[in-house]
Order: sequence, then structure tokens, then C-alpha cells
Amino acid sequence: MIKPVEWTDDGVAMLDQRLLPEEEKYLKLRSYEEVADAIRQMVVRGAPAIGIAAAMGIALGLKQSVGTSVADLEEDFEYICDVMSRTRPTAVNLFWAIERMRRAFQRAKSETSDVEEIKRRLIAEAKAIHEEDLAANRAIGRFGAELIPDGATVLTHCNAGALATGGDYGTALGVIRGARDAGKRVAVIADETRPFLQGARLTAWELIKDGIPVTLITDNMAGHVMRQGKVSAVVVGADRIAANGDTANKIGTYMLAVLAKEHRIPFYVAAPISTVDLSIPSGDRIPIEERAAEEVVKVRDRRIAPEGVEVYNPAFDVTPNELIAAIITDKGVARQPYTRTLRELVEAPNEAVAASGEGAD
Ligand code: MRU
Repeated sequence: MIKPVEWTDDGVAMLDQRLLPEEEKYLKLRSYEEVADAIRQMVVRGAPAIGIAAAMGIALGLKQSVGTSVADLEEDFEYICDVMSRTRPTAVNLFWAIERMRRAFQRAKSETSDVEEIKRRLIAEAKAIHEEDLAANRAIGRFGAELIPDGATVLTHCNAGALATGGDYGTALGVIRGARDAGKRVAVIADETRPFLQGARLTAWELIKDGIPVTLITDNMAGHVMRQGKVSAVVVGADRIAANGDTANKIGTYMLAVLAKEHRIPFYVAAPISTVDLSIPSGDRIPIEERAAEEVVKVRDRRIAPEGVEVYNPAFDVTPNELIAAIITDKGVARQPYTRTLRELVEAPNEAVAASGEGAD
């Protein structure tokens, strides 16, 4: 099983995704500052994986706190949460995980004043977030498989697979793996996903490893392959879904949704329910991360543009809800009108969460 991030007794282990596919190297991050830096530098990336890494970073920072009273510990905890919250702005899973750790801290504090016990509970919470993500992706796979016909070719963008989540299935790739595991024949067309090349480097790598047929195209070939009738469905992940269904995902996703509409190809979003942000009514309020010009003027270490050129490098775009045929979550499939259906899914009881004690609030 591909494990992008893992809790260990002496730190957080992370597969360095910047080096894939050439090198499979695990880093051992031994402080919360190192974890925060790894998120910023995209050692780990993908919305759910960022949330899991942040939760583990918080647990690690707290474990190393020298605070002897609950008040000292809480001060350290809030400081670490603040550092984590300033790593990447778009994926709401980061803020969701921080909030969940905060609720766990408050719950622990109300039940014990034993500092070591509070630390143990926070480590357990981070591990639970990881475990629940694996289960959520399996559920996404089961729900999503029903939308994928036998013999389908699915076009996907970026990497919303094992590498972008707790491991194993992934979200968009979870739908593809779910279809395969339901006995359907399914093939994938992967966009290379400039500028960070998550499609070429990561999606192609993990699908080949898994024996799922994959064909790599550059981003500007998507319209052509759709027009040629080679695409049965588009399935992408999400970094944040607003209450009305507008969805932020890797830059280039919006372009695919427009193309899919033109060619009457269903466009699906697959994401855990933790990616839904009911606090914002529409996608206009989703903060879009802008990354360094370096990523655009270079392909890996090789410069491809003249010195001095102006660069614009937004890492995400927003696909309006009317272009999305369905949003596949671990709690079921939402369709229009998303303002109602997403809220219903968010508010539906979640057995995995209840089992972890999170439902107790
Ligand atoms: O910049 P990244 O690589 O973190 O962006 C990742 C994406 O946009 C993914 O498609 C999204 O997070 C869904 S991951 C299951």
C-alpha cells in the first residue's frame, strides 16, 4: 500500500513526493516546524493528506512540549495550530483537521489535568483522522463505482489518489479503483498537470504500480481526446467545496469542466465530506493559493522561459456547480441542488466519526 504519511514513535514519516517517480524516499520529520515546512514545500500534498499531516504535526509538537501545566500545554497547542494554518490556504481539510484537533484538546482538557494523558489523546486523534480517511476513500470508491460504466475511460487531473490522501485508494482514483474492484474494466487518461506535474509524476506512477491502464496526455490535449470520443467521464478531486457545490481543485480543472459540458461528458467531483465548507456560500470566497514563479519558468531544474518575464501562478481554480454532474462523498452522492443535498450529507450521522468519540460534542 502507498503510504504518503505515517505516524511513528520518533516523528512523522513522509514519502517525498517532490522526488517521484525517480526516487521513493521517506523523510523522517522530527518537529512540528519540519512538518509545516514539508506541507509548504509540497513534500506531502493533496487536500486530505495535508489535513492528516497537519494533525500529526500538531500531535508531534504537543508531544515535545515541555509545558508542565494544562495552561502551558494549551498555549503551545494554539501556537502550533497557528503555524500549521499558515502553510497552504486553499485545501479546507487543513483547517478542518486543525479544528478537529482543537475540539479533541478541549474534550481532553475537560476530562483530565494530566498533561501526558492529554498528549496521548491528541496523538490518538491524529491517528484516528488518518484511519478514518482510509475508510472514507473506500466509501467514495463504492459510491463512485456505480457511476462508472464497464469499459469506461476516465479522464482525471492532478493527483487525487493514494498519494493525496491517507494512502491506499484515494478519492478520484478511489472511484476508479472502486470500479475496478467491482469487476468493471476501466482505463485512465491522466493530464500531466503543469506546473507541478502531479498527473505525469504521481498519478501515472501510482496507477502503473496498481496495474490500472493509464495514458498520459499534456493538459492542452484534453479537448482533442474528448472530441475524439475517447473519454467516458471526467473524475477529479477537490480542495474545497462551497455550500452551493462550487469546487476548488488544481488549476486546469475548470477548463476540463467546460470542455466536458461541450462534449456532453459527465464531470464528477470525488472528495471526503471534510472537504465541504458550508461556511462559505459560493466559490467566490475560496482563497486561491499563488505559488512561486519558479514553478512556471522551470520544468524541474531546467529553465524554459526568459529571465525577467512576468509570471502568474495560481495553484487552483473554481469550477461552478452547474458544470458538476455529481459530487461523490464518503456519505453518498450529492446532485443539484447542492445547497440542499450537500448540507444533508454533512449533517447525516457518520459511524466512523461517532466511533472515534468525535461525535460526542
Ligand atoms: O497542490 P496540490 O498538489 O496539493 O493540489 C492537489 C489537488 O488539487 C487535488 O486534486 C486535490 O487536493 C484533491 S486530493 C484527493
